[in-house]
Amino acid sequence: MRVLVTGGCGFIGSCFIRMLLDEDSEASVLNLDLLTYAGNPANLADVEASPRYEFVQGDIRDLELVSRLVADVDQVVNFAAESHVDRSTSERAGQFVDTNVYGVYVMLEATRRHRPKARFLQVGTDEVYGSVDWPGFPDEQTLLRPSSPYSAAKAAADHLALAFHETHDLDTIVSRCTNNYGPYQYPEKVVPLFLINAIEDEPVPLYDGGTQVRDWLRVEDHCRALLLLLRSGEAGQIYNIGANQDPEVPNLELTRMILDVLGKPESLIQPVEGLRPGHDQRYAVDTSRIRALGWQPELDLRGGMEKTAGWYRERRDWWEPIRSGAYREYYEKHYGAALKS
Ligand code: NAD
Ligand code: TYD
Repeated sequence: MRVLVTGGCGFIGSCFIRMLLDEDSEASVLNLDLLTYAGNPANLADVEASPRYEFVQGDIRDLELVSRLVADVDQVVNFAAESHVDRSTSERAGQFVDTNVYGVYVMLEATRRHRPKARFLQVGTDEVYGSVDWPGFPDEQTLLRPSSPYSAAKAAADHLALAFHETHDLDTIVSRCTNNYGPYQYPEKVVPLFLINAIEDEPVPLYDGGTQVRDWLRVEDHCRALLLLLRSGEAGQIYNIGANQDPEVPNLELTRMILDVLGKPESLIQPVEGLRPGHDQRYAVDTSRIRALGWQPELDLRGGMEKTAGWYRERRDWWEPIRSGAYREYYEKHYGAALKS
């Protein structure tokens, strides 16, 4: 089984590649990644010497390149994306449309033309359902109401992937997962940002009172679900993936858990306002379809957070170079004024 993975040097893609190579000794991986600010070859340092792993630096929007790469693979898993909501609202959203919509079209088009029997897994997000009123749990048929440029572009990608199934009979599957946390996550996202800041005894900028709810899932659980979908998912179907935390976990509680796990004081919490226009209040999904295939998360949130905190504590060698580079500039620009006020 030869699998083309895009965005494999990012957070989730790198976990997926590691897991696939580990679980299936017959599998080989071709990783296509542009290495944007979020792509980091260090995320895959432990597999780069494997004879079953090959890396190509390139763009999913490059039809000629993708056509060549897709020609001899059995499966395609498309992770490549611009993934941060705050950047989609504070910077120009054009990059999100380019990569998350046009890039997905190119991937689908190249697959249809050159490898029409390949299974194509489009990795999507639960954010396409928009903010969900309690006690709603949207299933895969629920109307999409994305509210950020990020989630709107991801919703368009879902539609394209499903349209290629309807019109060209491409073996397409769409997944929609809730918020992930775990090792190798770029520290613009809340969990690694708060863990690293707290380790450094720096303030953790909690947006808008911290009442918002996300359904946190360990990245390993997400990747196990994706492997299952490659094997057993039904063509043309959508699969929600999520932990269904019960009780649900508002951001303030998540923050307290992070600080508690690290043994840090709650005085590090710094409330900030106005950094996330259109801040979605609650995400939640009905996960009965993926659970009917036999999937369930392995660790609860506290257990997962303890493991994750341990990883960030031990892996300064991974995050220090990130924090000293372009990230610093982003951090100053995005948080500077709010953290000083
Ligand atoms: P990430 O930002 O960590 O990684 C994205 C990767 O894509 C990077 O390695 C980057 O270099 C690469 N990339 C970006 N543009 C590219 C292009 N044009 N061509 C080739 N490569 C390109 O993202 P992530 O958190 O690992 O998310 C991966 C996917 O999973 C995304 O599609 C995201 O929408 C989806 N998702 C993420 C979450 C989450 O909580 N992080 C939850 C559900 C779904
Ligand atoms: P984030 O990790 O950016 O993921 P997403 O926007 O895809 O859900 O944010 C998760 C939640 O954490 C969201 O409600 C916004 C909040 N948040 C903060 O409170 N402070 C921060 O510095 C960041 C980045 C996010």
